Amino acid sequence: MKKVKVGILGCGNVGKYLIKNLFELRELIKEKEKLDLEVIKVLVRDGKKSRTVDGFKIPQQLLTTSFSEVMNTSPDIVVELIGDVEVSRTFIKRCLEEGKKVVTANKFLLTIDDEIFTNENVFFDASVGGGIPIIRTIEKAVPDEITEITGILNGTTNFILSSMEDGMEFSRALELAQKMGYAEPEPSFDISGLDASQKICLLAAIIFGIRVKPENIIREGISSIEMIDVEFAKEFGYSIKSIATIKKKKKSNAEEKFEIAVYPVLISRDSHLAQTKGNLNAVTIKGRRIGELFLKGEGAGGNPTSISIIADIIEASKGSKRDKRRIFPPDGKLINPEDIYSKFYVRIEVVDKPGVLAKIADSFGKNMVSIESVLQKGRGVGEEKGVPIFIITHETKESNLKKALEICSKLDVVLGAPFFLRIYQE
Ligand SMILES: NC(=O)c1ccc[n+]([C@@H]2O[C@H](COP(=O)([O-])OP(=O)(O)OC[C@H]3O[C@@H](n4cnc5c(N)ncnc54)[C@H](OP(=O)(O)O)[C@@H]3O)[C@@H](O)[C@H]2O)c1
Repeated sequence: MKKVKVGILGCGNVGKYLIKNLFELRELIKEKEKLDLEVIKVLVRDGKKSRTVDGFKIPQQLLTTSFSEVMNTSPDIVVELIGDVEVSRTFIKRCLEEGKKVVTANKFLLTIDDEIFTNENVFFDASVGGGIPIIRTIEKAVPDEITEITGILNGTTNFILSSMEDGMEFSRALELAQKMGYAEPEPSFDISGLDASQKICLLAAIIFGIRVKPENIIREGISSIEMIDVEFAKEFGYSIKSIATIKKKKKSNAEEKFEIAVYPVLISRDSHLAQTKGNLNAVTIKGRRIGELFLKGEGAGGNPTSISIIADIIEASKGSKRDKRRIFPPDGKLINPEDIYSKFYVRIEVVDKPGVLAKIADSFGKNMVSIESVLQKGRGVGEEKGVPIFIITHETKESNLKKALEICSKLDVVLGAPFFLRIYQE
């Protein structure tokens, strides 16, 4: 039986569960994997704090506040679960210099540090999708040409949008997400799509080698979505979901290009992604030959995330190295958002007068945007009060829609800036 000494840096949400689960699963892993995984030291900031998780007390003698003390125990593998970019980077680099294998879940560090990302001794399955083995599946189980990955990669936004679909206003849903521990007290990292953008950029680098920065992809948050959008979507057979997507596009002999984005979309209520409710995450993987795969589960939380980490520890313990990654800059490889074709949902607030629709239809028509369906709801009281018009378009270029909406926004019958969302077609 191979004995493997595991050092752990960090004993917070994930670290605590990792230690508990390594203790609890020790015999099972011995039996199944012929590996004896032993936790030898755990680095923390506060060595005096008593730490218990689901009734399991972390043995105090394992804790240390000294990184050198962890390294002096000669770990075979070091798991980094600190989270802070600079502290984590420093420790990981020191571990690699000393010939250790490293397991980390630090997605932000992986998106910005090429040396760590491309190192064959760094394992990071848990950095995207928490307990869902997204990276492992893509890398180990799908030796096909992947054409698209589209997923719900942020549990907080999914919880808020699912709650809105159940009739709760955005602000109430956010409050509830915070109360239940799904959202941070400062939630903008999730709500703005930044968290999901880091994850999708990491997946883009893993699958296609394209090394794009989160700030250079299309990113839209969910804070402009109103109850009337959710209700309209429902009435027309859609859900609203915040998705992260990478699509590889190649026209005949032309060069490959990529659409990489995080944004809310209308998506058919029958689809697997629309059926992913609450704080769950999910991902659809499309390959030329394999067709479509769908993975769904807990995208965060210490307990499920620690299982992905254990899978990495097992892989690293078996002596395997990760495939050497080749990465290239995105120069010219990203599709200009204006050139992307989609169907769109549009909401325009207008004065309640005859002839309004004709004026809007005219500006759409002049910009090659053809309308699939229109719905006008409610009646404003008095002329000043607006009523919303909802429009679903046929597929069109995003630049055409934007030109049409710019003209619309200047019409005397239109109140405020029109709002639009893309419609995701599977
Ligand atoms: N939470 C999740 O659901 C989840 C899911 C997927 C990936 N991740 C990733 O997993 C990593 C860990 O997340 P987490 O939620 O477990 O973080 P966390 O709860 O904030 O825990 C961080 C741990 O690191 C220790 N620490 C912080 N700075 C330190 C320093 N300078 N020296 C020594 N120890 C230090 C803290 O010690 P003290 O306890 O003494 O303060 C704490 O134990 C992050 O990269 C995160 O992005 C988390």
